[in-house]
Amino acid sequence: MTRYTVDDFLGDAREIVGEHGIRDGLEAIRENTERLLRQPDLLETYVDMGEYRGHTVIGHDPETNIHVIVHGGRKGGTSPPHDHGPCSVIYGNYTGHTLMRRWRRLDDGGSEGQARLEVAREYTVGAGEATAFAQGDIHSIDYPDGAFFVRVTVGDVEKQKTRRFDLERGIVEIDDRAARAE
Ligand SMILES: [Fe+2]
Repeated sequence: MTRYTVDDFLGDAREIVGEHGIRDGLEAIRENTERLLRQPDLLETYVDMGEYRGHTVIGHDPETNIHVIVHGGRKGGTSPPHDHGPCSVIYGNYTGHTLMRRWRRLDDGGSEGQARLEVAREYTVGAGEATAFAQGDIHSIDYPDGAFFVRVTVGDVEKQKTRRFDLERGIVEIDDRAARAE
């Protein structure tokens, strides 16, 4: 297998975005994410396990503002349904799997107040597989202990105001991620 580095990935993504834009290029970037996930030494090469605390950025291209981030590998976790603000995001598993749910709004689609959602699709993302969420797509994740996954984000999601859904209370609220991180 030809070696495919994070730099190769970011260079290819730059070309794809330049030629097709993000929306139409997202599927090609998702396919390249799977190629990256098949690199057997990805973690050894890019992650300092002694310093690792559950997520680390392993690549960033300033031109496209694409980030490649390793997550997980410790205790499993879940998220409530959320979007990624203006960002498109690709999730792929390196080890283990993620139970992925895509959600559909059954209401007017506002940013705050009452919100009703239903599961549009539920599927498992296995090791070596990646799935893409375009701007505005809503999803939730559920992953077991030890599952490492990679997120490719177009833009810095953790600096955005995104929408977070509380299924029990039936509401949507703005999640100011930059404020939350401080
Ligand atoms: Fe997400």
